[in-house]
Amino acid sequence: MREIKNITCIGAGYVGGPTMSVIAQKNPHLNITVVDLNRERIAAWNHEDLSKLPIYEPGLDAIVKKVRGKNLFFSTNIEKAIDQADMIFISVNTPTKTYGKGKGKAADLKHIELCARQIAAVAKDDKIVVEKSTLPVRTAEALKSILHNTGNGVNFHILSNPEFLAEGTAVQDLENPDRVLIGGENKEAIQALVTIYQSWVPKERIITTNLWSSELSKLVANAFLAQRVSSINAISELCEVTGADVNEVAYAVGADSRIGPKFLKASVGFGGSCFQKDILNLVYIARTYNLDKVADYWEQVILMNNHQKERFADKIIKTLYNTVNEKNIAFLGWSFKKDTNDTRESAAISVANYLLEEEANIIVYDPKVSEDQIYRDLDSLNTRNSNKNREMVKVVKSPYEACKQAHAVAILTEWDEFKTYDWQKIYENMYKPAFVFDGRNILDSKKLTELGFKAYVIGKHNN
Ligand SMILES: NC(=O)c1ccc[n+]([C@@H]2O[C@H](COP(=O)([O-])OP(=O)(O)OC[C@H]3O[C@@H](n4cnc5c(N)ncnc54)[C@H](O)[C@@H]3O)[C@@H](O)[C@H]2O)c1
Repeated sequence: MREIKNITCIGAGYVGGPTMSVIAQKNPHLNITVVDLNRERIAAWNHEDLSKLPIYEPGLDAIVKKVRGKNLFFSTNIEKAIDQADMIFISVNTPTKTYGKGKGKAADLKHIELCARQIAAVAKDDKIVVEKSTLPVRTAEALKSILHNTGNGVNFHILSNPEFLAEGTAVQDLENPDRVLIGGENKEAIQALVTIYQSWVPKERIITTNLWSSELSKLVANAFLAQRVSSINAISELCEVTGADVNEVAYAVGADSRIGPKFLKASVGFGGSCFQKDILNLVYIARTYNLDKVADYWEQVILMNNHQKERFADKIIKTLYNTVNEKNIAFLGWSFKKDTNDTRESAAISVANYLLEEEANIIVYDPKVSEDQIYRDLDSLNTRNSNKNREMVKVVKSPYEACKQAHAVAILTEWDEFKTYDWQKIYENMYKPAFVFDGRNILDSKKLTELGFKAYVIGKHNN
């Protein structure tokens, strides 16, 4: 197998951009081109002003500054990049299907297939094709079939190399991964990718498996993580009625080394582009193999998450004397977690939708999410027309403005800055009684109560 010099990554999103930036930084001898159909996104990756990069991730701008134009390039010329590459990563989106068979459950693989067909059409020499996107188990089989049957008679080796980074800590996760997983059939191809990671990842953290184990492990890892969140969220409801404190319970339970403390934080519900879609996909796969008990088990993780979002919105309505009609609810946070501008499947969207159905007015402040994005998220629900969304939801640039003359403040994202606000000032400018609904369990409820607030915190018996 020839030496890997040129790498192409198809898909310049939350995974492709940061992953290739770090690989480029750690492998100055490699030439890496990240391509995308989306011209605006590529223009933003090439923007001189690094604050305009399409993705906000702490530390990413500094890396891009170092490598861009040296051994990392962003381009829309997909064919040229495929032609030149020795190794091609496919890092395109694999959302839940919104049509046809498997609608609302299965992963939509149309972008993956398009990539495969384009690679097959363009490639004139052997290539290693790496699945970086999260894919249903056995997708590599379909990829292989397309590549080998429509190609120009060249050899393709397929590897599965799922990405485990978490948004908000992507750079840290990439620079110091718990593990790198590489699945494949051809030893030399596997070794070629191992060598790239070995530039900075200790050998013992690079796991090699067969293709199917690698594909399935990514879905399973996300299912386990989400299951922990749903488990502690289920307990949060029990804490509220029994007088137990969910933080204390999580601490006591997590101190057991067999359980561990991570991912045991009660909240308004998980979001993000991955957890829900990957579990739905896992459930769908299990059902296609007639494993209904397995499917039912994992489906509960999603049902619990939906329940948690709904019960948070319900709590707001009930507490505000059973009506939020024309009341002002300030939303602090819109992104699905702190330190990212990603809003996909954010709990804030569902909670807002629920309250808007009850004709509340919502005023949103988020440190990183743009006004346009917030309206796009609401419009995409098709619950009401876009004029109505703009009439009922206002997006402001300051938290104090959001909370001014609000009947209630709801914390939807755990941004650190929310803890540092002048809550006395916020209290003074709100309607009384002034309510705070802390959906992330980040504020000091005792202090809020002393200031005069009526505070509801997920998983605490103060409610
Ligand atoms: N976001 C995460 O935290 C995360 C973490 C691990 C794994 N993943 C997985 O990685 C994959 C990518 O996720 P993402 O968040 O980066 O998605 P994304 O939507 O941010 O980026 C995908 C990009 O691919 C581009 N694209 C789609 N089809 C294309 C084509 N045929 N040619 C060129 N470009 C094309 C899109 O324009 C888009 O810019 C998904 O399968 C996801 O499940 C995501």
